[in-house]
Amino acid sequence: MHTTTSIKKPSIVYSSYLVGGDILPWDGPMANVYSNIFFSTNPEGESKPTLIGSVPDMHEKSSIDALNAAVQAFSRGQGLWPTMKVKDRIACVEKFASQMKQKREIIIELLMWEIGKNKADATKEFDRTVEYIYDTINAYKMLDRKSAKFDKEGAIHAHIRRGPLGVVLCLGPYNYPLNETFCLLIPALIMGNTTIFKPAKLGVLLITPLLDAFKDCFPAGVVNILFGRGRNIAAPIMRTGKVDVLALIGHSSSAVALQDQHPHKNRLRLILGLEAKNPAIILPDADLNHAVSECISGTLSYNGQRCTALKILYVHESIKDDFLKKFSEAVDNLKYGLPWEDGSFLTPLPEPQKPTYLKNLIDDAVSKGASIMNQKGGELSKNYCYPAVLYPVDTTMDLFHEEQFGPVIPVVSFSDIEQPLNDMANSEYGQQVSLFGKDVKKLGPLIDTLANLVCRVNLNSSCQRGPDVYPFTGRKNSAVGTLSVFDALRSFSIRTFVASKDNEYNNQILNDLLNSDHSNFINTEYLL
Ligand code: G3H
Repeated sequence: MHTTTSIKKPSIVYSSYLVGGDILPWDGPMANVYSNIFFSTNPEGESKPTLIGSVPDMHEKSSIDALNAAVQAFSRGQGLWPTMKVKDRIACVEKFASQMKQKREIIIELLMWEIGKNKADATKEFDRTVEYIYDTINAYKMLDRKSAKFDKEGAIHAHIRRGPLGVVLCLGPYNYPLNETFCLLIPALIMGNTTIFKPAKLGVLLITPLLDAFKDCFPAGVVNILFGRGRNIAAPIMRTGKVDVLALIGHSSSAVALQDQHPHKNRLRLILGLEAKNPAIILPDADLNHAVSECISGTLSYNGQRCTALKILYVHESIKDDFLKKFSEAVDNLKYGLPWEDGSFLTPLPEPQKPTYLKNLIDDAVSKGASIMNQKGGELSKNYCYPAVLYPVDTTMDLFHEEQFGPVIPVVSFSDIEQPLNDMANSEYGQQVSLFGKDVKKLGPLIDTLANLVCRVNLNSSCQRGPDVYPFTGRKNSAVGTLSVFDALRSFSIRTFVASKDNEYNNQILNDLLNSDHSNFINTEYLL
């Protein structure tokens, strides 16, 4: 779909990076950044991606410099940042949040250009991220308040807190290049870790307005930001064995490849958000109009490019005709447009190869007996594939197994509830499910089983991560560790404590410590 623009095309040549507290000039090779929104044609008259900027294409040497800066900032636990008073670390994060808010407009604009996210969702991504930072600050205050005391068990006093783990390598996904990356980075930082962060493969320019704020708000080496390919940057860092935490939201193949590079497996803590194939199960007594509307947002918000998207719909045989008719019509009524146009729900796909990949999934399913149920389904252009509703889909088709991460919707009908339950049990994934129905006699036992197959059962609603205070995790190949505002603080830290036998000699020392400013660990200052 070739289009014209009414907002100004970005042009950002960013030839710097942040290492060791300095924004350094980069004089090596640069990588062009293209938007998959088309405005011009090549000499053959074909639409072509739009050049919107360039960033450093960095390699091993700079990545090792960044690692060394993070290692030095942690300084085997002696660094300024990991030993700082909690309230002082919080002040740095607060300062960062307030500087970040000043970049709202440009970041939202870049989200639209770089990853084709519509304006409403791009705005939500920015605002939700800022809110996440403030919620994290509050959650940390609460956590710290709880540890501002001494426990006593038997004859031993204990002052228990959560301490940082060390050096964290943070890698986020292209579909939430700001939000999901910061949901890793901010808790990692606030808990006293030092970090190396490489933006996702798409959604890179939008990080550049924030480098000054990172430099300004955190001590040298605490945040290091590099640009380039994962294999050139992340792999050499992992090979050193000096990374304590790999925090990655993306594909399990990248997570496995990076873990494999690390020579000391038990040193490495993993915090991973990976693939999912969340099903919707629509029971005979479901409110059909409601189920259709939730399945539209569940399958097609941001063109289905969400790890939480509904990626397969199981509809009871007795209502499948009605469901397919209503759902297919609703899909064909969705508005396609440029991200900044009013009411655009469907928008260009940011990955150049994606339309062809989706078309292949559709062709494979059709060749094995599925039909495209909606009129516009599968209409193809260079940067889009109109959402296709495919029915009946079965286990012989690639679409049944693959995480399509795009606008293609497989529908399966069932007469026996064991069928979706067995498929879920056999699946490699186990993140969430949406369950539509009303009869508690049916719902009750089903919920009991589903809760053991996934980590969130959404009753009569689509799957989603938020509200961010709720646990976000998955079974099997869908996640390692749990994120939420509170859980992330735990994931990026470890309990560590000072124990002392209850005797006059020790008690005097503890009292002296508490009444002095000599330790930031042993204190019972309450954070308000
Ligand atoms: O891509 C996965 C995201 O965590 C999904 O978040 O459910 O808020 O879109 P969301």
